[in-house]
Amino acid sequence: MKKRGLAGEFVAHLFPRVVRGENLRLTYTFCLGGLALTVFLLLLVSGVLLLFYYQPTTAGAFSSILFLEEQVPGGKYLRSLHRMASHLFLILLFLHSLRVLLTGAYRPPRQLNWLIGFALLGLAIFDGYTGYLLPMDQLALWATQTGMELLGTIPGGTLVKDFLLPDGIGGSLSLLRFYALHIVVLPLAMGVLIVLHFYRIRRDKGILPYL
Ligand code: HEM
Repeated sequence: MKKRGLAGEFVAHLFPRVVRGENLRLTYTFCLGGLALTVFLLLLVSGVLLLFYYQPTTAGAFSSILFLEEQVPGGKYLRSLHRMASHLFLILLFLHSLRVLLTGAYRPPRQLNWLIGFALLGLAIFDGYTGYLLPMDQLALWATQTGMELLGTIPGGTLVKDFLLPDGIGGSLSLLRFYALHIVVLPLAMGVLIVLHFYRIRRDKGILPYL
């Protein structure tokens, strides 16, 4: 047999050797997981481009957004792309979870992947929430305020609130924490879980056949 290099071995193992024909039907998965991955990558790319203009300071955040929208060619488009992709990402994740639920794919041996997926959903919602504050406009401040009040109603919520908002909504340390979570901690955690999610799909011998 022809010997492959390290890169060749990696590519060869990305796909299983045998796949059941019915699992390839589009109407089984609607490719929702794959679409979610594509949008996640789009969010990473558009987010990195936004970083070239965004200023994570209370004095600079809103004006950096105005500068991006008014002075940078394609800036408005870039910002809308990131925002709309974030909405689409959540919609795709809800639909993907619904598909998994309706096809019973959460059952053993896939229960671990269901939990990994659930963690991904939670992180995605949290990442969207932290991103909402970053423009520091009125919508951002009031939406964050509403979220924090809701958080305060659940047990342990006040502790989380104190960690997230050490100097209140609109404070510089709070903005910095939302920023660090939004651009580093949460995307990195999601990246690790996505790799684990795909690894588990392979270990669970691919996706389920038709019920
Ligand atoms: C960034 C987030 C996610 C990505 C990129 C992703 C990606 C994928 C992909 C590509 C598949 C293969 C089949 C398909 O496309 O449906 C899959 C399967 C699966 N996903 Fe996700 N997923 C994510 C989030 C979730 C969530 C939120 C859940 C549930 C709470 C979940 C649970 C599962 C399970 C249990 C399977 C195996 C399904 C089967 O065997 O039929 N995933 N995922």
